[in-house]
Amino acid sequence: MRTPIIAGNWKMNKTPREAVELSTQLKADLADVKGVEIVICPTFVCLPAVKEVINGSNIKLGAQNMHWEEKGAYTGEVSPSMLVDIGVEYVIIGHSERRQYFAETDETVNKKVLSALSYDLKPIICVGETLEQREQGLTEELVASQTKEALNGLVTDAVKKVVIAYEPIWAIGTGRTASAKDANDVISVIRKTIGSMYGQDIAEQVRIQYGGSVNGGNARELMAMPQIDGALVGGASLKSDEFYKIVNF
Ligand code: PGA
Repeated sequence: MRTPIIAGNWKMNKTPREAVELSTQLKADLADVKGVEIVICPTFVCLPAVKEVINGSNIKLGAQNMHWEEKGAYTGEVSPSMLVDIGVEYVIIGHSERRQYFAETDETVNKKVLSALSYDLKPIICVGETLEQREQGLTEELVASQTKEALNGLVTDAVKKVVIAYEPIWAIGTGRTASAKDANDVISVIRKTIGSMYGQDIAEQVRIQYGGSVNGGNARELMAMPQIDGALVGGASLKSDEFYKIVNF
């Protein structure tokens, strides 16, 4: 059985002070939740303060990005060893906003995935199509290829630690979700792709989330689908009561 994983991607929201407030609230509100892995991903500058708040709770810490190198002349970047030092466990890699605005490619995504795993950070790898690609019938081909590229060169044991987030770009921040059936179908394609690389047994162990306008009202239907193992949540993760509803799907 795959344990569902709900991750809140706070994006570029919340100052450190506000992040402490929100995580304090989440810690109290989510204290009784069981059977679901909960992760919150604040901005880099908020990570240490949030870690202090959630220590000893059932909430884990994730980052939104990282560089693949350990250190060096990469102005403005943050390395995996820095994240590990703070107590970060998960790191979102290849979010569509990073691919779109910061020129991330399947190749840099793969470098980051390999690097994260070598530091024992668990990557949450984002894949997903644009509306145009969906309309052209390219969705399955695209997510299969993004998945293959992202996992290129991973050893079998490492693959089990990876989380994949299927996030159709047209559903992110738009209030428009993929139907539960469509999301489930695309996630099946991702699982088959992993199966073709590492065998079905391994593919069955990898958790694959859905992301894109998940909220307290639609989480239950999405999470009821057999292939969907959780959610990557943007906007609705910034309010404790809404995130609570999602986590309690
Ligand atoms: P959203 O964002 O929930 O606000 O659509 C999801 C994401 O980008 O991870």
